[in-house]
Amino acid sequence: MFYSKKSIILDKNLKLMVSTRHPVLYAASEHLFTAGGKRFRPSLVLLVSKALNDNIILASQKRLAEITEIIHTASLVHDDILDDCSTRRGVNTVHNTFSVKVAVLAGDYLFAQSSWYLANLDNLEVVQNISKVISDFAEGEIRQGLILFDTGFTINEYIEKSFYKTASLIAASCQGAAMLNGVDLEISKRLYNYGKHLGLAFQIIDDILDLVGSVEFLGKSPGSDLKNGNLTAPILFSVTENDKISHLIYREFSKKNDIQLAIDLINNSGGILKAKDMASEHVEAALLSIDNLQSSESKKLLQKVAKYTIERLY
Ligand code: IPE
Ligand code: IPE
Ligand code: MG
Ligand code: MG
Repeated sequence: MFYSKKSIILDKNLKLMVSTRHPVLYAASEHLFTAGGKRFRPSLVLLVSKALNDNIILASQKRLAEITEIIHTASLVHDDILDDCSTRRGVNTVHNTFSVKVAVLAGDYLFAQSSWYLANLDNLEVVQNISKVISDFAEGEIRQGLILFDTGFTINEYIEKSFYKTASLIAASCQGAAMLNGVDLEISKRLYNYGKHLGLAFQIIDDILDLVGSVEFLGKSPGSDLKNGNLTAPILFSVTENDKISHLIYREFSKKNDIQLAIDLINNSGGILKAKDMASEHVEAALLSIDNLQSSESKKLLQKVAKYTIERLY
């Protein structure tokens, strides 16, 4: 989406980077690259790079952009197994096309390949920064898996989990790009905070879209968080307003129209709006983090990207 001009090179490199001797592993690994996606993380890497260095992108930063998309795709391959999701980016998911075993291995393979290319950047600081993200995914997914259908899950716990699952990679991508420019710690921390808040807003909006979006827009069927018992911000906020929603969650949507009923009740509660407000606060915090960066076209785009996160809802 933000990567349009460079996307042909990105797509070509992504495929080259996951090339492997085994045709099944290759097919499974590159499956989702071909289906597209917004290329949100690589776009951020390139924009941060340009904003900090007179519009120049270093070769290592282009490589980092590719690495972040490989890590992201690996996490989606595993996430779709855990969420039992049959389509992604408008095509069948890897486990649905091949098998769960192949998808586990394909995700592992993508993480391993990303680590190899990461190590080859030959920058220990960036290796430490990005490699932490891979363990954070596991932490985020495990935390989520332990609280399914638990209405006692708090908003703070939700934010922490979302940090591990989503914001950690976005934060590290922005900071990694800054580190490759050799900026001082204060600036690199600012970029980290920009990515962290942006990532949290991004996940909150994704969680709202799961309740208000259509199959065409989402590239997958809506309501999947509810069905899986993944109680996201809009759901948690609505539960405090309407006991009927807790009741449906408590019985794990065991009756025929329970999911649709819950979606309707949530849409008619203030939960969506409260979650949207929370996402807006994180967008504001993201904007504040980069406020004192030197003015440039890329800085403006970083600000625009932050605002776009919320606009995805309309
Ligand atoms: C989906 O990420 C998973 C979340 C972190 C919410 P994206 O919305 O960036 O997915 P693609 O890459 O565009 O398919
Ligand atoms: C994001 O969470 C997944 C990862 C960051 C691994 P979701 O489970 O909400 O993402 P979608 O909705 O499947 O894209
Ligand atoms: Mg999912
Ligand atoms: Mg989701």
